[in-house]
Amino acid sequence: MSHALRRLVIVAGVLVLVILPLSAAIRLTNAGLGCNDWPACYGREALTATASVLPQSAMAMLHRLAATALAIVILVILALSLRAGRGRPALALLALTVFLAVLGIVTPGAHFPLVTLGNLLGGLAMLGVLWWLLLGLAARPAPPYPAPSVRRMARLGLIVLVVQIALGGWVSANYAALSCTDFPGCAGDGWSAAGMNEAVRLWRQLPGDAAGTVIREPAGAAIQVLHRVGALVAVAVIGWLSVMIWRLGAAFRALGLGIAGLLTLQIALGVAAVLASLPLALVLGHNAVAALLLLGVLTLNHRLTDRGNAPVFSEMDRAPGGGQ
Ligand code: HEM
Repeated sequence: MSHALRRLVIVAGVLVLVILPLSAAIRLTNAGLGCNDWPACYGREALTATASVLPQSAMAMLHRLAATALAIVILVILALSLRAGRGRPALALLALTVFLAVLGIVTPGAHFPLVTLGNLLGGLAMLGVLWWLLLGLAARPAPPYPAPSVRRMARLGLIVLVVQIALGGWVSANYAALSCTDFPGCAGDGWSAAGMNEAVRLWRQLPGDAAGTVIREPAGAAIQVLHRVGALVAVAVIGWLSVMIWRLGAAFRALGLGIAGLLTLQIALGVAAVLASLPLALVLGHNAVAALLLLGVLTLNHRLTDRGNAPVFSEMDRAPGGGQ
């Protein structure tokens, strides 16, 4: 049973890994990152539902096929888990699937950044839950029990990373990437009170002209400033976390190095993308490394729990606080 479940979780994970970059590519090429007169075309067609060229529709079709297959696999995972009497993680997967499907069906396109953000975060959350399930299904000896301060820091690192990913998604969903093309400063009104107020208004709608092009506005610069400040916090917290786990000894060293390396790469990709006026490859790389970083920090959190190599369902279905 657990072998079948493991295989299905891997299949679902692979499908999510197909869907995530496809979804990013569809969103980003809609933003104009693949167009000929780049960067003049950034945000053009983002607000027009009919804007679709051939690669776009091929990507959209592939995305739909993979998403349908994923929904079926998740239903089978749910059935198997329920038969084992422990279906909570699989129910979370189902809830995410329904959330993403509803978002895809009833959403009014790219006008509402919150919808785009929901899509990005929902996909990453699904990857995260599947990864957590897989970690629990892989039997391996429990590492030495770490100090509570390290476990607290690992949890904080996860929270900071999720917030920073959400801020990055907010930049992307608001087509705000070109509102600051310099680094480290953000020329213009990145720090203006009006821009900041608008930047944190979650229900905002994108302003567009008659041709469907997103109009550049002060909120865009403020949104980027928030993402850059978030990056500083992430470097401080996750960087320090890497040092702490490096000190835990050989069992954790590779993981600490991996997280520190991914963090460095992510910062480099973000800065390079800004300075090079957002080449598609760099932005897609920035998206992929964010996902890898999330998996790395989740792996760390999983290994730092005192759950050892107990089967995943007994771990995850435990009452809150019961595993600590
Ligand atoms: C830990 C550090 C960081 C994380 C986890 C992170 C994560 C993300 C994520 C998840 C996105 C959304 C990608 C997408 O559209 O699919 C994003 C977008 C973006 N990030 Fe970051 N980021 C980090 C640091 C930085 C830094 C240091 C910069 C540059 C100063 C930067 C610049 C950008 C820009 C310009 C975008 C928007 C690209 C677009 O048009 O879609 N990021 N980030």
